[in-house]
Amino acid sequence: MQLWKGRFQKSLSKTTNDFNSSISFDSRLFREDIEGSIAHSKMLGECGIISKEDAEKIGEGLKGILADIENGSLKIDFDCEDIHTFIEGELTKRLGDTGKRLHTARSRNDQVAVDIKLYLKKQADEITALVKELVLVICGKAEQYADTIMPGYTHLQRAQPITFGHHLLAYGEMLLRDLSRLADCKKRMDSMPLGSGALAGTTYPIDRTITANLLGFDNITENSLDGVSDRDYCIELAGVLSIIMVHLSRFSEEIIMWCSWEFKFIELDDAFSTGSSIMPQKKNPDIAELVRGKSGRVFGDLMGLLTVMKGIPLAYNKDMQEDKEAIFDAIDTVKMCLTAFTPMLDTMRVIPQNMRKAAAGGFINATDCADYLVKKGLPFRDAYKATGEIVALCIEKGLTLETLPIEEYKKVCNIFDEGVYEAIGLEKCAYERRSQGGPCPDNVRKNAERLKNIIEGK
Ligand code: ARG
Repeated sequence: MQLWKGRFQKSLSKTTNDFNSSISFDSRLFREDIEGSIAHSKMLGECGIISKEDAEKIGEGLKGILADIENGSLKIDFDCEDIHTFIEGELTKRLGDTGKRLHTARSRNDQVAVDIKLYLKKQADEITALVKELVLVICGKAEQYADTIMPGYTHLQRAQPITFGHHLLAYGEMLLRDLSRLADCKKRMDSMPLGSGALAGTTYPIDRTITANLLGFDNITENSLDGVSDRDYCIELAGVLSIIMVHLSRFSEEIIMWCSWEFKFIELDDAFSTGSSIMPQKKNPDIAELVRGKSGRVFGDLMGLLTVMKGIPLAYNKDMQEDKEAIFDAIDTVKMCLTAFTPMLDTMRVIPQNMRKAAAGGFINATDCADYLVKKGLPFRDAYKATGEIVALCIEKGLTLETLPIEEYKKVCNIFDEGVYEAIGLEKCAYERRSQGGPCPDNVRKNAERLKNIIEGK
C-alpha cells in the first residue's frame, strides 16, 4: 500500500515494492509513530487547523491501533511501504475521512525524523542503564580486589606492579566517559523536527511548541531543510556506541588472555564459557570473543551512516532510509553485548595467587629499585643506569632482584644496602604508589566509591 497513488497509472512491481519498502525494519517504530501522530493531531486541533472533534477522534483511533498492535490483534501489513503508511492507512480504515485529516501540515520526512529521535532518546536511556549496571559491577569487584597484586603491563611486557582493583577501575573510568557522551548526544537529539514539512515548513498556522511539549522535546529545530535532512544524531549515537564497543572489546581481549593457561588470572563461570566438540579439555571464552568480534559490526554501522550521508544534497533523499538498519543494529548489538558482558564479569573467579606469581620475578620492581637509590640521593638517571646493570647481571646469573646477593648490588653501586630488599617488595611497590590516580588500595576504594556515587547520582 502506498500513500502517493494519485499521480501514477501503474503500481510498483512486487520486487520494486520490496526494494523500496522499509517496513520490515521500521515497524519497530510503531509506538513512536503513533505518539508523534497523536501529538501532531492534538496540535492541529488546538490551532484550529482541524476540528477539535476530529483531533479527538484521531487521538482515540491511534490509541486503539497502538493497543491492538500491542495485544497482537492487529498485525502489521508488511506489504506497506513503511510503518507511517501502515498506521495512517489503518486509521483511515477505522475513521474514514477523519483519518485522512491526520497528515495535514506534515510530511513523512518530518514524521520519520521525529519518530527516530523519539526512539533513539529512549534507547539512549536503556543503554545508559545497562552501562551503569556494568560500572557498578566493576566497582564491586574493584573493592573486593583492592589489595590484589598483579603485574601492570606496557607493550604486554610486565612493567610495574599494580592492584587488580585499579586495573578494573580503568574500565570504570572509560565507561563513565561513555555515560557522559550518551547524555551529551541525547541533549543534542532533543530538538523536535515536526513542522519542517517535506522540506519547506508549511502555510498552515501550526504551533510547533505545542507538539514539542507534548512529545517531551527540549526545543525545536530552527531550519526546515535541516530538520528533515539531519541525521547527525544517528551518526553521533553510532559514534558513542562505537566507543563503548572499543572499551568492551579491549576488556574482552584482556579477559580472554587472563583465561588462558599462560595467564590464568581468572576463570569464567561455566555459564559463560563453552566447550570444544573435539578437545575435551577446552573451556573457551566465547562470550568475550563475541563481544570483541561484534565491535566490528558497530564500527561498520557507523561507517555506513557516515557514507550514506556524506554526499546527499539537501533536503530529504531516499538514501536516508538506510539510516535505520544501521543505527538499530548498533543499538541492538551494544545492548546484547552489555547484557552478556556484565553477568560474565560479575561471576568470574579471580585467582590472586596467579596474579601475584606473574608479578614476581620479572623485574617488575626495577623502577622501585632505581627509586630506592634516588631516595638515597642519587640522581634518577644514574640510578636508572645502575639498576639496568643490575638487571643485566641478574639475567646473566639466572637470578632476580630479590635473590641477587647484596655484595653483587654493591659491586655495581656502593650506595646499596640491605634496605633494597624491602624497597623492592611487590606489596610495597604497589601499595606505596599513592599519587593521585595511582594503584594503591586506598585510591582503589576511594575511586570505586566515587564512581558509585556518580552512577547513583549522589
Ligand atoms: N521510509 C522513509 C524513510 O525511512 C520515510 C520517509 C519517506 N519520505 C519520502 N519522501 N519518500 O526514510
